[in-house]
Amino acid sequence: MWTRLVQSLGAGLLAARASYAAVLVDFQVAQPPPLPSSAQQCTVQILERTFGNSYGDPEIVQYTPPTDCGEVGSWAGISLNFTVTSNGTQYDRLGIFTFQNVEIWRTSTPEPTTDGIIWTYLKDATRYLPLFSEPGTFILELDNILETGLNGQYASTLTATFYASSDEHPAAPRANTIIPVTTLANNTGDDASVPPVFSLNVTIPQNAVAVYAELYASGNSAEEFWYYNVASEYLGDLPSGFTYGYGPFREVRMLVDGQVAGVAFPYAVIFTGGISPTAWRPITSYGALDLPTYFIDLTPFVPVLTDGQPHNISIDVVSAETNHTINDNWYVSGNLQVVTDSSSSPTTGNITAYNVEPYAETTTTGTLDDNGDLTVTVTAKRSIQIQSDFTSGSGEHTSVTWTQNLDYSNTQSYLNGYLVNNVAQTATGSFLSTHNGVSVLSDDFSYPLYINMTYLNDSYESWTAEFDHSYNRVSLPSPFILGSTINERQTATSSFVVSASGNYGNGTNDDTFSYSDDDGNTYWRNVGAADNNITYDSVGGSLSGGPFSLPFSAPMSQGVLAKPRLPGGK
Ligand SMILES: *[C@@H]1O[C@H](CO)[C@@H](O)[C@H](O)[C@H]1NC(C)=O
Ligand SMILES: *[C@@H]1O[C@H](CO)[C@@H](O)[C@H](O)[C@H]1NC(C)=O
Ligand SMILES: *[C@@H]1O[C@H](CO)[C@@H](O)[C@H](O)[C@H]1NC(C)=O
Ligand SMILES: *[C@@H]1O[C@H](CO)[C@@H](O)[C@H](O)[C@H]1NC(C)=O
Ligand SMILES: *[C@@H]1O[C@H](CO)[C@@H](O)[C@H](O)[C@H]1NC(C)=O
Ligand SMILES: *[C@@H]1O[C@H](CO)[C@@H](O)[C@H](O)[C@H]1NC(C)=O
Ligand SMILES: *[C@@H]1O[C@H](CO)[C@@H](O)[C@H](O)[C@H]1NC(C)=O
Ligand SMILES: *[C@@H]1O[C@H](CO)[C@@H](O)[C@H](O)[C@H]1NC(C)=O
Ligand SMILES: *[C@@H]1O[C@H](CO)[C@@H](O)[C@H](O)[C@H]1NC(C)=O
Ligand SMILES: *[C@@H]1O[C@H](CO)[C@@H](O)[C@H](O)[C@H]1NC(C)=O
Ligand SMILES: *[C@@H]1O[C@H](CO)[C@@H](O)[C@H](O)[C@H]1NC(C)=O
Repeated sequence: MWTRLVQSLGAGLLAARASYAAVLVDFQVAQPPPLPSSAQQCTVQILERTFGNSYGDPEIVQYTPPTDCGEVGSWAGISLNFTVTSNGTQYDRLGIFTFQNVEIWRTSTPEPTTDGIIWTYLKDATRYLPLFSEPGTFILELDNILETGLNGQYASTLTATFYASSDEHPAAPRANTIIPVTTLANNTGDDASVPPVFSLNVTIPQNAVAVYAELYASGNSAEEFWYYNVASEYLGDLPSGFTYGYGPFREVRMLVDGQVAGVAFPYAVIFTGGISPTAWRPITSYGALDLPTYFIDLTPFVPVLTDGQPHNISIDVVSAETNHTINDNWYVSGNLQVVTDSSSSPTTGNITAYNVEPYAETTTTGTLDDNGDLTVTVTAKRSIQIQSDFTSGSGEHTSVTWTQNLDYSNTQSYLNGYLVNNVAQTATGSFLSTHNGVSVLSDDFSYPLYINMTYLNDSYESWTAEFDHSYNRVSLPSPFILGSTINERQTATSSFVVSASGNYGNGTNDDTFSYSDDDGNTYWRNVGAADNNITYDSVGGSLSGGPFSLPFSAPMSQGVLAKPRLPGGK
């Protein structure tokens, strides 16, 4: 059951924070939700749960839309507040929020310290307004394990704030319906594990006139550091068990009845236990608390999808290997935001152009020196063009042109007796969909990633690592999801030692972030940290200050660190 948020909850948390002085405030640099602070608001608690031994035991609650914050379904916006405390030692854990069988947020946890951490992430959930307008099941899967040496629990609270619409703050534009492309499970998070390809029969309303797909995808286990996986033909040139094969290129594909409809070259989210946990505290790696999602226009398939029959919608992740295989595993899901016509008569038409290869065009080249130094470069490129023409039941004609152009390159260097492991990866792309000549979905992105790792010796128990990672994206996900421009760069340095008497290390993290959107909102933040201390922090823009300003961090001792995860599972 959801309950009204009681005022004392916030006060209780503050009291809890005061009772242990050195609590560390973790955060991911991000814009506050661009929602109207002057609108009438009400906040409801969706769930509250301490995740201890929670494998196979997600939090499952029933949600009912609030009726006293403006008309249900006509809100100006919705934001979510996920606030978590933890203390002790624990790994980072993945969190999957599933609402009405649709994944609406993928997050992960910062690793706690002995004295305790707290974090709050505020997320704009306005795009899921059709789901929040109906009662339904809300699931948070956050699989945690308690065992010797791992005692951190995650005490979590999720609230939703609804912004009433008014003359001043119009109701948010919205899809008519959102259709999950998920496992549809009612007792756990609804992401699917691939490989193999995940497929679902989906029946689209026959009067659909637009279908926008959102994709969630992240690498896990032998795919966590996918950008460090080496092309299989060179795996044997490295010490056995050193890294994984199947190369570093990953393409997330969505298929309709076996035909590729659109793809994403994903951003490499580094989780807070990745390589050097000391680099990601208190500022997490970008995306760790709110993994980016990818948008493609499925509207060209409307003439096929509106026949009233189920269609096979698939999501998979493929590599640049000859057989396109990847390791286990990626977690994927999708949702389809569907716009329907005013008439209930079916939409009819034709796909008029389909210029899509099943797989990206890729190259793999490498050089192996006599001293064992190995450098391998994998490149990929892709272009997709699909057109269709259709007429809605009310007689409106639509011409759709959907294009994607993407480029990818990854160079890995294994030098100095395999002690130096560097990766330089870039993924760029430009997506555009026009309906009757009007841009309805676009995405121009560039995700450069540079990591230099140096192991001190071949016990691989001590290393330094430097990171330079950017997320540059101008994105309009659909005509009814706010378009935005984000330029984010994070550089980090670190040193780490795994030791039986306690892991230790240090790290610095510097962030330059700017945001602007099609409503004229702006936000920027320049913030840096060294060894858990915020060393500088300046924030500005129209979204800064106000009720959404984030707490700053406080210095503290590091406590006991969990063993980091490394490329190759070393
Ligand atoms: C987020 O929720 C926590 C309690 O769960 C509360 O203390 C905090 O004030 C909230 N933050 C915002 C900006 O609403
Ligand atoms: C943190 O530690 C305190 C004191 O041991 C304990 O009362 C509290 O429940 C812990 N919180 C979490 C989230 O584990
Ligand atoms: C989950 O519940 C929905 C609604 O009751 C139902 O349609 C669906 O089949 C269920 N999913 C599974 C996997 O049982
Ligand atoms: C989809 O439905 C067809 C019958 O309409 C069935 O043969 C097929 O197995 C189903 N596919 C999936 C992925 O459920
Ligand atoms: C659905 O499409 C996928 C991808 O092409 C294919 O592997 C799978 O066999 C298809 N499923 C059905 C039931 O046709
Ligand atoms: C892909 O090819 C590799 C050899 O390069 C082989 O080991 C693997 O089994 C193949 N995977 C599949 C799914 O065919
Ligand atoms: C679709 O193609 C058929 C056959 O080529 C044609 O008769 C029909 O007019 C086309 N429909 C639209 C909406 O273009
Ligand atoms: C590797 O370096 C660490 C840290 O300097 C040292 O403690 C360890 O003994 C070295 N191991 C080997 C095998 O040389
Ligand atoms: C990695 O090393 C190369 C070569 O020394 C250097 O040019 C680059 O700036 C380094 N990258 C990072 C992230 O430190
Ligand atoms: C981090 O630790 C390494 C290894 O102990 C040390 O050489 C380096 O000076 C430290 N850096 C900082 C900024 O403290
Ligand atoms: C972090 O802050 C603590 C306490 O103020 C201080 O002792 C320590 O030197 C600081 N470390 C860095 C790297 O600034």
